[in-house]
Amino acid sequence: MSAIVSGESVSSKEVVDSTRTLNYGTWKYQRAWRPLHVVDAEGCFFIDGDGKRYLDFSSQLMCVNLGHKNPAVIEAIEHQARALPYAAPGHATTVRAELSNLLLEVLPSGLRKFFFTTSGTEANEAAIKIARMYTGRTKIIARYRSYHGSTMASIAATGDPRRWAVEPGGKGGGVIFAPEANCYACPMHHQYPGCNIACADYLEHMIEHESDVAAVLVEPVVGTNGVLVPPPEYMPRLRQICDRRNVLLIADEVMTGWGRTGKWFAVEHWNVQPDILVTAKGITSAYVPLGLCATTQHIADFFDDHYFAHGHTYEAHPMTLAPAIATIREMQRLKLVDRAAEVGAYLGQQLSGLTEKHPSIGQVRGLGMFWAVDLVKNRVTKEPLNTISEKLRPEPLVVDRIAGEMTKLGVAVQAWISHLVIAPPLIIQKHEIDTGVAALDRALNIADQYTVG
Ligand SMILES: Cc1ncc(COP(=O)(O)O)c(C=O)c1O
Repeated sequence: MSAIVSGESVSSKEVVDSTRTLNYGTWKYQRAWRPLHVVDAEGCFFIDGDGKRYLDFSSQLMCVNLGHKNPAVIEAIEHQARALPYAAPGHATTVRAELSNLLLEVLPSGLRKFFFTTSGTEANEAAIKIARMYTGRTKIIARYRSYHGSTMASIAATGDPRRWAVEPGGKGGGVIFAPEANCYACPMHHQYPGCNIACADYLEHMIEHESDVAAVLVEPVVGTNGVLVPPPEYMPRLRQICDRRNVLLIADEVMTGWGRTGKWFAVEHWNVQPDILVTAKGITSAYVPLGLCATTQHIADFFDDHYFAHGHTYEAHPMTLAPAIATIREMQRLKLVDRAAEVGAYLGQQLSGLTEKHPSIGQVRGLGMFWAVDLVKNRVTKEPLNTISEKLRPEPLVVDRIAGEMTKLGVAVQAWISHLVIAPPLIIQKHEIDTGVAALDRALNIADQYTVG
């Protein structure tokens, strides 16, 4: 591998070789990692080193909600870099005050005090610590089909197999798992509505028998682990249980926030007010790393006379806050939340339209601009194409091969275990949706070969 010298032109091969030799690829065996050299991006597309364009059908990691290179957000970054690139978190800054006031306008009501981070992971770490400090209790109830982040507490609260590598000794203590609300493949083999939401009631049973429970931590719509939309009674029931048991409800809206589900935040679908809301990703359309942990006034008041034992050098970093203001203003100007609901319904229809043709589709589900295409070997038994244990083996899964085929066809999509997550930028046009769905239609022939019955 030759050294890359600043100012000299480099080939894409050199860039890729350097990247895979000198950097870690996340969540993967390193040997097979062949990262795509991304050189440019605009709107719903990005471009590789050979000039090939890709439709960004999952908004990178379900985060570039405004689309690429929004001029207002770029301008805000440039302006802030000239005005005040950094101030320690103990200081007040104009940009911090402005964003905090704007958040009061767009967050679900009742969330009134904010701690800024530089990722969703850190925002969940903050939420867990705040919940423990405020309640004086330790345990967090999370759910198996979930992802909450990669560091100690947030990976301990993650139900999916990304947690397994730190099990058992390295897993942060005090997290226990409840069953998820998954009406397509219920872990308790119940059927909605006859189940009367037993998965929520079991969570109350856990709180009663565990003692020392500080909080229940849920993605209101489970994201990477399958875009699982709970039945309408579920989130209100969780709210009632938490109130009855004096336990905090933390909504992890890292992926579901910022218009993704057709509301500013997913909890608004059920008029549920969490005690703590965690978000990141779309808050700046991912142009700069920003996370947010928002709490109620009750929690805020507690820390008036109790030590707030948390902080980072980069907390409330001005360079992260200015683009968040611009992102929110752009979302308001372009009415992107309503657009996500409206155009997202079209996306859902087009994806559902593939079901008849492809026996490998077990279910298409989602809301707003947030959809999963769940793939199975057998529609009757709902046996998935791959299992969670297979996810941690070096061989590519069937969904990875489908995503690979779509990439060849110029459409980038995220795949996880046995489903694809379709979550394009909220600005996507209907004809662009048609392009993405047509590529999926072709690539699904790979999965159909595995189906029986
Ligand atoms: C629901 C949820 N929580 C937390 C995280 C972690 O956020 P980050 O990758 O910014 O640390 C993610 C990331 O995908 C997520 O989807």
